[in-house]
Amino acid sequence: MRAVVHDRYGPPEVLRVAEVERPTPREDEVLVRVHASTVTRGDAMGVRSVEYRFSRLVTGIRRPRRTTFGSEFAGLVEKVGAGVTEFRVGDEVFGVESGANAEYVAVRESDVIVQKPTGLTFEEAAAVPDGSLLALTCLRPADPLRGKSVLVYGAAGSIGTAAVQLLAHYFEAEVTAVCDTKDVELVRSLGAPGVLDRFREDFTKNGETYDVIFDAVGKHSFRRCRRSLKPGGIYITVDLGFMYHVPLLALVTRFAGSKRATLGIGRYRRNDLLLVKELVDTGTYRPVIDRVYALDEVVEATRYVETGQKTGNVVLLVSEAAPGTLPEPATKHEEEVPA
Ligand SMILES: NC(=O)c1ccc[n+]([C@@H]2O[C@H](COP(=O)([O-])OP(=O)(O)OC[C@H]3O[C@@H](n4cnc5c(N)ncnc54)[C@H](OP(=O)(O)O)[C@@H]3O)[C@@H](O)[C@H]2O)c1
Repeated sequence: MRAVVHDRYGPPEVLRVAEVERPTPREDEVLVRVHASTVTRGDAMGVRSVEYRFSRLVTGIRRPRRTTFGSEFAGLVEKVGAGVTEFRVGDEVFGVESGANAEYVAVRESDVIVQKPTGLTFEEAAAVPDGSLLALTCLRPADPLRGKSVLVYGAAGSIGTAAVQLLAHYFEAEVTAVCDTKDVELVRSLGAPGVLDRFREDFTKNGETYDVIFDAVGKHSFRRCRRSLKPGGIYITVDLGFMYHVPLLALVTRFAGSKRATLGIGRYRRNDLLLVKELVDTGTYRPVIDRVYALDEVVEATRYVETGQKTGNVVLLVSEAAPGTLPEPATKHEEEVPA
């Protein structure tokens, strides 16, 4: 089968499409024929692991231990192991599995794989898990959020677009979103009544205060956000911060002062994906897709993800779906990657 592989760390150019052995599902596994996958920020950072030295303790010190690439998938169940009870051949599924930029992935049925929402195409479904599951697990420690004021910074990214929708429709918080000029209307359409253009208004200087500030792109700081937090307020960031200071800051602010900083630790959980699927089914969650690339364009797709300027998600078309199940892609890439 064709799959994206990389034998070393480095820029996106280390990625290539190669012929590799098709996985054989074990007794408790499902073999999925992948129709669509994505390139996430996490995937792109994994290839660059040279610059993210900590992660190399897990992914391999000198070279990547796992040479396959990608994590989100949507496709059709092609085979099931003898012990599988929940899935049948022909089911349309989506989820998270390492090595998802490939024509096939084998996934344990108890892992992060669920039936695809019927209202989504494969491309749309592939763009759901990463952002939504990371946003859910980062925000949940601050719950109950019902009726609370929450500001989302970096609201147009993969985690940001998910966070805005989950806060508005699931946590039932009062959301204010901060994003780039070009994404204001999109973010408003996701359920944020208040949207600030970060190039026109500095939310730390307008006198407004919030119960929670969620830095969904890890580009702000507790120090600068502090005055915009209400007493007892929490700053949640997805990034370890300059010199990895956030965990220490979290410890200190837990015991000193009335405002706290925390590091959101994202996790992929099956039950959370079931929850998000339900939100999709009821029309209260939708994936945002920026560009769609072919599998062979994985280098170009990863370069674009690395710019840090994508809106929502970047999808990879892996293989043709059965006729009629794969409508026209939501968006096609036409412009050049911004400098
Ligand atoms: N904690 C965890 O468990 C965990 C797990 C995975 C990833 N992460 C982190 O989560 C972060 C976000 O991931 P993602 O996939 O959501 O990212 P993403 O989709 O690549 O984010 C892109 C968005 O971020 C905005 N942005 C870029 N620079 C900005 C800045 N300086 N200020 C405000 N907005 C800015 C961009 O807006 P413009 O177009 O205006 O630039 C764009 O809308 C990544 O940096 C990654 O490190 C954390």
